[in-house]
Amino acid sequence: MIFNLDRNNEVMNNNMKTILVTGCLGTIGIKTINYLLENTDYNIIGIDNCISNPKERVFEIINHDRFKCYSSVLFTDPLDNKLKPLFEFMNVDCILHLASLIGSMANSVESNSKYFDNNEKLTLDLLNYCVEYKIPKFIFASSSSVYGNQSCKLTEDSDLQPLAMYGITKVNSEKYINYYHEFFGLNTVILRYTNVVADIKYYGYKGFIPLMVDKIVNDEPIKLFNNGQSKRQYIFIDNIAKANYLAIENDNVSGETFNITVDEEPISLITACNYIYSKLNKNPNYTLYSDKQFGDIDCNWMSNSKAKEKLGFEVITDMYSGIDKYIDYATKK
Ligand SMILES: NC(=O)c1ccc[n+]([C@@H]2O[C@H](COP(=O)([O-])OP(=O)(O)OC[C@H]3O[C@@H](n4cnc5c(N)ncnc54)[C@H](O)[C@@H]3O)[C@@H](O)[C@H]2O)c1
Repeated sequence: MIFNLDRNNEVMNNNMKTILVTGCLGTIGIKTINYLLENTDYNIIGIDNCISNPKERVFEIINHDRFKCYSSVLFTDPLDNKLKPLFEFMNVDCILHLASLIGSMANSVESNSKYFDNNEKLTLDLLNYCVEYKIPKFIFASSSSVYGNQSCKLTEDSDLQPLAMYGITKVNSEKYINYYHEFFGLNTVILRYTNVVADIKYYGYKGFIPLMVDKIVNDEPIKLFNNGQSKRQYIFIDNIAKANYLAIENDNVSGETFNITVDEEPISLITACNYIYSKLNKNPNYTLYSDKQFGDIDCNWMSNSKAKEKLGFEVITDMYSGIDKYIDYATKK
């Protein structure tokens, strides 16, 4: 199912919307594409450079004649033009831009450049393709990390104070997107997801809940930094796939930004771990450390009111049920 761009440029032969999903082999890419194949008539083109996930992950996507997948290691090279044939031969209606490096890599000059290339520069390149090939709509996967360290409940108008390179590239990408909306009239939607939990095998970046559940299932001891007091919201993947679908479908929210999160207040790392231990009937086995890693956020608390009001977003699976679903998945795999 993985093809080279230069060997595969046939047009999908129906009149349905064609959605280009970048980062299609990622956790959110796979789950969103499967949702779209099952619930819509869209044609889906997926691209991924396999920087964080193996190409075999494509087999987790439903094998469907409305889905094509392209892989190239060169998507970030401005001179390679690997994506041009795609836009020349296929009528793309919307780009759902999920590709990026996520998490926090070691803070180094080298890793900062990788973040810039794969997150910020790729976003700008794709926006330019939208203008050049008249692709009308662009949806962007941003992150709660754009807000940095703020303990109050955050709305889309709150200050952006990213702490590390990942958040900085998301903020800058958002700025490019808003500029392309204003100047070129591109129909854009920015979705700021909170920490995602998915019932899937993780390869690269593993969020806190999957990491802890897997350790606890295997009776491994846990280290909690910042004395386990950092607070987060966790959102199950079905909510994210639905939010992506709503952003594609809704044409009245052009230029808007939405927080995509659960209704519950954030919980501390200790509370999350104690919940998992009790669900698995195990005794807590963690050690607390007072130090923090650079870029770690103490509290992340977003409001989803605007998404509910304007995007039609509703929470399908609440925060604790989402954690339960990953526990079920981990104990059965
Ligand atoms: N998972 C979360 O908790 C979370 C939270 C907030 C925002 N997000 C955002 O959602 C998006 C998807 O996240 P995910 O969890 O699926 O991540 P993921 O790492 O599983 O998937 C990202 C995919 O993008 C691909 N990729 C990276 N750079 C690329 C490039 N230059 N060209 C082509 N493909 C490239 C990677 O190979 C990977 O398969 C990301 O933009 C991320 O920042 C994720």
